[in-house]
Amino acid sequence: MQVIVNSAMTVDGKIATHQGDSAISSKDDLIRVHKLRDSVDGIIVGISTVLADNPRLTIRLGRKQPKEKHLTRIIIDSMGRIPLDSQILRTASKIKTIVAVTKLAHMNVRRKIKKTGAIVIVAGTNTVDLKRVLWTIQKMGIKKILVEGGGEINWSLFSLGIVNELIVTIAPKIVGGRQATTLVEGEGYSRVSQGLKLQLKKVRMQNSGELVLHYKL
Ligand SMILES: NC(=O)c1ccc[n+]([C@@H]2O[C@H](COP(=O)([O-])OP(=O)(O)OC[C@H]3O[C@@H](n4cnc5c(N)ncnc54)[C@H](OP(=O)(O)O)[C@@H]3O)[C@@H](O)[C@H]2O)c1
Repeated sequence: MQVIVNSAMTVDGKIATHQGDSAISSKDDLIRVHKLRDSVDGIIVGISTVLADNPRLTIRLGRKQPKEKHLTRIIIDSMGRIPLDSQILRTASKIKTIVAVTKLAHMNVRRKIKKTGAIVIVAGTNTVDLKRVLWTIQKMGIKKILVEGGGEINWSLFSLGIVNELIVTIAPKIVGGRQATTLVEGEGYSRVSQGLKLQLKKVRMQNSGELVLHYKL
């Protein structure tokens, strides 16, 4: 399984403001992300990202002729908090959608999510067991996966050592805020020497002044 993390952040490392506004990247960069989506089999996001952004996670930009290729969408959501009227569940009967929950998610909640057409995977006790989710979706034929955050999911996947590639767009903006979400949240390492070491493979500057950095892990 190939796991790629993609994110847009400000120069000060934030991927959203303290109020959860994550409209950081330019149109050019959004087109790049949609092309990247076109090259993978599935896309993972955390529940807080769904609650903050209500995304569709489809491919809409960067294609001359819109075609009906859809990615499998995987939402990491311990308790099954995803709103039934979210854009993702509203389209779950047409676009393959997996909601990965834990044993803590109430049976009724699981049933309601399934009724929308989404598949519910139960993995883990308190938080979602991401290794098990990746193993399960691999069995479903997903070989290449794109992770689109947020910071907590990024930390869990990085710290498990299962990310192969990081693509990060640095926008020439500063938003500050100690409560603002950064690229990687979680507990963090206590020493820099414990941190993950990345190899910079490619840098590209976009017209908007953004830098797109490609790292291998
Ligand atoms: N700029 C960008 O590229 C970009 C991209 C994505 C998101 N964002 C922004 O990032 C913010 C959300 O990021 P976030 O860090 O707060 O949350 P997140 O990573 O989107 O979701 C984290 C939540 O997922 C659930 N979860 C279940 N199992 C988990 C596990 N094993 N590891 C980690 N999380 C697990 C937990 O909630 P439960 O316990 O309730 O399940 C956890 O609080 C939003 O404001 C969004 O707009 C920005």
